[in-house]
Amino acid sequence: MTDYLLRISSLSVNYGATPALQDIDLVVRQGEVACVVGQNGAGKSSLLSAVAGALPNQACQGQVEYQGKSILGRKAEDIARMGISLVPEGRHVFSDMTVKENLLIGTYMRRDRRNVKQEIETVLELFPRLRERLAFPAGLLSGGEQQMLVIGRSVLTNTKFMLIDEPSLGLAPLVIDNVYQALLALRNERGLTLLINEQSSNRVMKYADTIHVLRGGRKRLTTTVQEVGNGETLKAAYFGLTKTDETAAEVM
Ligand SMILES: Nc1ncnc2c1ncn2[C@@H]1O[C@H](COP(=O)(O)OP(=O)(O)O)[C@@H](O)[C@H]1O
Ligand SMILES: [Mg+2]
Repeated sequence: MTDYLLRISSLSVNYGATPALQDIDLVVRQGEVACVVGQNGAGKSSLLSAVAGALPNQACQGQVEYQGKSILGRKAEDIARMGISLVPEGRHVFSDMTVKENLLIGTYMRRDRRNVKQEIETVLELFPRLRERLAFPAGLLSGGEQQMLVIGRSVLTNTKFMLIDEPSLGLAPLVIDNVYQALLALRNERGLTLLINEQSSNRVMKYADTIHVLRGGRKRLTTTVQEVGNGETLKAAYFGLTKTDETAAEVM
């Protein structure tokens, strides 16, 4: 019926008495680079965790549909097998294992073992730095290289829809651009759909097709790269500068 890959409706997340997200409606289309921006505490990580099945069932209310199937309340492993992968904030690598061993971990869940070698080659083409470091312990990599490693590992799970939590955090601008070039290549060449959390809206405006602004656990704005203009409306929604920001430039 629709071309939506993901449809979130009336999603709320509560940690005990703490509301983290309230009444979120959001769609992601097949092949889109969608970014969720918001300040620290806005609810970005809770959103990705809810989609990936990483929160306790009682914390979440509402609907999350992936390819038309309801996934809220399903086990994280089942959601992963449907093609959704979560790259959490913080670049979690296995420090004492080599880069190659870290990449291989991404392949363990795959059923199609025979493509593994080719897939690793694809990841190394995308991130040439990783090829140079294949035999290094992952703990010795720079922050940017570790980010590439966790994204590469995620590609190897055979993902179709990648959820990436703050990939730019703590990285130099040039390195951030490298990471995003690779993410765009994943979309353009492999048809991946990406939902990316970021704190900085400026950087995201360069790469995203669609930008969703969260503030205080609510979605304040959805806009597109074509509509965003000089970013004034986006900034107002991000910082809460106007009373009308909830509907301004709404595209859905
Ligand atoms: N495990 C948790 N237990 C209690 N409160 C939490 C937990 N995780 C997040 N929160 C709270 O939920 C809100 C949203 O957090 P989060 O989703 O991490 O936002 P963001 O990723 O945008 O920084 C914040 O108020 C945060 O303090
Ligand atoms: Mg977060």
